[in-house]
Amino acid sequence: MKEEIKIKTLVTYSSLTNNTKKVAEAIYDAVDTKKDICSISEVPDLSDYDIVAIGYWVDKGNCDNNVKKLLETLHSKKVLLFGTLGASDIGEYYKDVKKRVEEQLAGVNQLLGHFLCQGKIDERLTEHYKKQLKDDPDNPHIKAQLENHKQASSHPDAQDLQNAKDFVKRYIG
Ligand SMILES: Cc1cc2nc3c(=O)[nH]c(=O)nc-3n(C[C@H](O)[C@H](O)[C@H](O)COP(=O)(O)O)c2cc1C
Repeated sequence: MKEEIKIKTLVTYSSLTNNTKKVAEAIYDAVDTKKDICSISEVPDLSDYDIVAIGYWVDKGNCDNNVKKLLETLHSKKVLLFGTLGASDIGEYYKDVKKRVEEQLAGVNQLLGHFLCQGKIDERLTEHYKKQLKDDPDNPHIKAQLENHKQASSHPDAQDLQNAKDFVKRYIG
């Protein structure tokens, strides 16, 4: 604990199916300042905190609405962003998502870093695609979606959580 500097960090997260919550807990473990963790619905008065680490799940290529609302209210904070999404890290998609999320943050804040990793996709969505494939067995889009769901199903895994911890150590370790 860096008692002598008295930096205080809040880790908060928005999570429907616990992927982002798992990453938040790994990040909280790795934070080496005074610290608190809470769900986004329980965010306390932020004036007590020097650093706010905010976790989102990706909804239609951007952060979920709860995180959007929080980002709009932030002022003069050091911010760490982290998120989970169903897509795997190929091509430019992760970069594009990060950029869109960062655009929600007002300019008077300081972005320290941004971490994104894959998270399993809600089984109801997988079932939805499986039904569609029955009606349209050769549809390449549906096949690719289901392949991605399969690939995402083990995430966030131990390596993702370690990567999240390493990420924190780089910025506030
Ligand atoms: C309504 C909905 C929209 C989603 N949109 C995207 C998306 O645009 N891109 C993506 O890669 N994953 C998308 N996902 C997958 C989630 O971002 C992913 O499963 C995430 O890890 C869920 O995090 P959570 O368990 O913390 O809720 C979506 C999931 C849902 C339920």
